[in-house]
Amino acid sequence: MGIYFDEDKKIFTIETNHSTYQFLVDEYGNLLHLYYGSNIQGSAEYLLQYRDRGFSGNPSSAGNERTYSMDVLPVELSIWGNGDYRSPAFVVETEDGARGAVFAYASHEIRQGKYRLAGLPAVYTDDAEGSGVQSLEILLNDPVLGLEMRLLYGVLPELDVITRAVTLTNTGKHKVYLEKALSASLDFITGDYDWITFHGRHMMERNVHRTHIDKIGQMIGSRRGASSHQYNPFLIVAEEGTGESTGSCYAMGLVYSGGFQAEAEQDQFGTTRVQMGIQEAGFHYPVAPGETFTTPEVVLAYSGEGTDGLTVKWHDLIRNHMIRDPYKGQPKPVVVNSWEGAYMDINREYILQLAEAGRELGIDMLVVDDGWFGKRNDDNSSLGDWVANESKLSCSLSRLIEDVNAEGLRFGLWLEPEMVSEDSDLYRAHPDWALKLPGRSPVRSRNQLVLDLANDQVKKYVLESICRVLDAGNIEFVKWDFNRSIYEAYSAGADHQGSVLHDYVLGLYEILEQLRSKYPKLLIEGCSGGGGRFDLGMLYYTPQIWTSDNTDPMDRLWIQYGTSFGYPPAAMAAHVTKSPNEHTGRRTPVETRGITAMYGAFGFELDLARMPENEKEAARKQVMDYKRFEQLIREGDYYRLNDPDRENFCGWGFVSKDKRQALVHVVITQIRGNEPVNYLKLKGLKQDAFYTDENTGITYDANLLMSAGLPLPLEHREYRAYRFHFVMEEAQ
Ligand code: GLA
Repeated sequence: MGIYFDEDKKIFTIETNHSTYQFLVDEYGNLLHLYYGSNIQGSAEYLLQYRDRGFSGNPSSAGNERTYSMDVLPVELSIWGNGDYRSPAFVVETEDGARGAVFAYASHEIRQGKYRLAGLPAVYTDDAEGSGVQSLEILLNDPVLGLEMRLLYGVLPELDVITRAVTLTNTGKHKVYLEKALSASLDFITGDYDWITFHGRHMMERNVHRTHIDKIGQMIGSRRGASSHQYNPFLIVAEEGTGESTGSCYAMGLVYSGGFQAEAEQDQFGTTRVQMGIQEAGFHYPVAPGETFTTPEVVLAYSGEGTDGLTVKWHDLIRNHMIRDPYKGQPKPVVVNSWEGAYMDINREYILQLAEAGRELGIDMLVVDDGWFGKRNDDNSSLGDWVANESKLSCSLSRLIEDVNAEGLRFGLWLEPEMVSEDSDLYRAHPDWALKLPGRSPVRSRNQLVLDLANDQVKKYVLESICRVLDAGNIEFVKWDFNRSIYEAYSAGADHQGSVLHDYVLGLYEILEQLRSKYPKLLIEGCSGGGGRFDLGMLYYTPQIWTSDNTDPMDRLWIQYGTSFGYPPAAMAAHVTKSPNEHTGRRTPVETRGITAMYGAFGFELDLARMPENEKEAARKQVMDYKRFEQLIREGDYYRLNDPDRENFCGWGFVSKDKRQALVHVVITQIRGNEPVNYLKLKGLKQDAFYTDENTGITYDANLLMSAGLPLPLEHREYRAYRFHFVMEEAQ
C-alpha cells in the first residue's frame, strides 16, 4: 500500500486497500493518466494509444509527431496551452493578455504523512506509524513564464482515499493571473459512467440526481460565493450499472465553502473527464512574483461495492480526518433552540422557562437564536451590532448565561458574523465594509449585505466583536449563520476584484481558525438558512451543520437521505419541532418527529414549557433513547435501507463497528388502500450470525434479514415511525 515510482517506466502508482491510481511521465515531460479503479498489478501503460487525429494539434515539444496530441490523451491535470481543447482545469494569463502555460515534469518527492495546505482546510491524519499515509509532490515547470506548479497527492490506504491539490508559484519577473484553477481532473480512458449530483433549494436541499456522462458537457456549481442550497460540492462518479451494493464508484468532494464548479464530459473518442474546483465565474486571481496560489483540496474515494460501501468509508474519513470536534469521542449535547418556538420574540422569562422545561426533559444545552442583540425584532436591522439588547432581555447577556447555567443547562448563542444590516451602527460607520458595487444601491437579500472578509480591517472587527460576545460568559456553543448569497463581489479595499470571492473564503477560514484556537472547547454549528453551506470546508471548523430550515419530518427524510451520501449523520443537526409544521402545515406524530431528528445531532426547537403533557412525556423518552443510542449514531456504520422515492417508507440504520448491534429506524411515508406488506431489508449485519429484536425477543438469521427483509407492521397510520434494535447473539 502507498505511493510507488517506477524509475524505468516513470510510472507513479498510488495503491490503497481496494484501489489503484496510476499515471506516468512521458518522454515530453507530460503527466498522462493511466488508470483509477479496483486494484491492478503491473502497468496500464498499454492503454495509451497514439493516432493521428484531425483537428487535434500537436505540442511543439513533440516535433513533427502527429500521433501525439494532448487533445486526445488522458492527462493528470489539463492546463490550457498545450493543445487540449477539452475543458481545462487551469488557465493562466499574462499581464499582456496571453493565455496559456506549458509545464513539464521536473522532479518529485514521496513523503510519509499527509501534506497540509496553507490557510485552507484539508484532510488531516495523525500520521501514526504504520497507518500508511503518504504524500506525493510533483514539481512541474514553465520556464517561459517562470512558474512552478506542484501537484499534491495524499493517500489514506485503509479508507481507499486519495486527496489532491495544486499550488502555483510565480518565480518569474511578471505577475500572472489565474482565470481558472480547478483542484483536480480525472480522465477515465475507457468505461461508461453516470454522475450523481445533489441539487436543491432553500428548505429542500440535496435531492439526488443521476445522469449519464455522455457527449454533452455538463456542469454544476454555485456562483453564490458559498457552496449553496442549489448544488453541493460533492458528487459520485458511478460506472454504468453500479447500484447500492454492487459496482465501482468514486466519491469526489471539494473541501471548500465558496463558489465551486464540477464538470463532466465524454470527449470525441470516449474518454470521460470529471473535474472540480473553485467557480471560474468572477475568478481572476493575480499571482505576483514570489507569491503562491493554492487550490482547495479535492478528496477522492473508491468503492467496488456500490454506493453503500462508498458511504461507510466516506463517513469514516469525514468523522476522523476532516471534522475537528471538541466533543470527539464524547456524547454530543442535546440542545433546545429558541427559534421556531418564539422566533425573535424572546425575553428573559421565556428563555428561563425554556431552560427549566429543558432540564426536566434531560436536555443539555439551550441555544438562544436570533433576536437577542441590537434592536433586532425583525430581520431588517442590527446585524453587525453584536451587543445584547438588555431592555428586551431584561438583563445583561452575562446574567442570562448564568441563570441558564443555574438551571443546569449549558448556554449557546446564534450569531451571523459575516453580515451587516444597512440599519446598523456598523454600516452607518463603515458603509464601505460591505460588498457592493461603487455608485449603485446593492442587491438586498433578507434586507442584509455581506461584510467584506477579503479586507483585513473587517476581519479584525468581526473577530474582535465575536470575542467580545463570547467573553460575556460561559458560552459553549455558537450557531454560526450565513443568510444570503454573495452577489456583488466588489471590495472597496481590494487592488484587484477577481480575487475577492476566494479571499473572502480564506478570510472566513482565518477567523474560524482563530476562534478555534482561542476557544478550543467551543462547539460551532454551521448554518446558512439551513443547509446552504453544507460542505467539507465548513465541517473542518464547524463539526455539525443545521441541515435545513425545513423541519417537517417528512421532507427531512428526503433531505437527510440525500445529505447522507456526502456527509455523516453526526454532522447533521436535526430538531423536533411542533405539529402542524411551521413550513408545510403537515401534522405528524411526536414519535415520528423524534425518530427523524435522531438521525444525527439531536435537539428540540419548540416552546417546551407549553407542550402538551403527553408530548412532554414522549420528548423525555426521546432524550433518554437518544442518549442511549448516541454513540451508535455518532460512530456506527450508516446505511440507507431503501430509496424513499421508490417505496412508501424510508428506512435507515446504524451498525456498530463490531456488528454486535444495529439500530434501525423506519418511517411510513404514505399509506395506500389494501396496502401490501412492506419488507425492509437490513444491511451491514454480520453474515451467518443471528440477531434478536429487542422489542419482541424474536431472533432472526442475519442473512435472511438482509436478503428477504423484515415485514413492517400493517398499521394504517400515515407517518408512523418504528425503531428496531437488533443485538447479535453470541456464537455457541
Ligand atoms: C436562519 C437559520 C434559522 C434561524 C434564522 C434566524 O434562517 O437557518 O435556523 O437561525 O436564520 O434568523
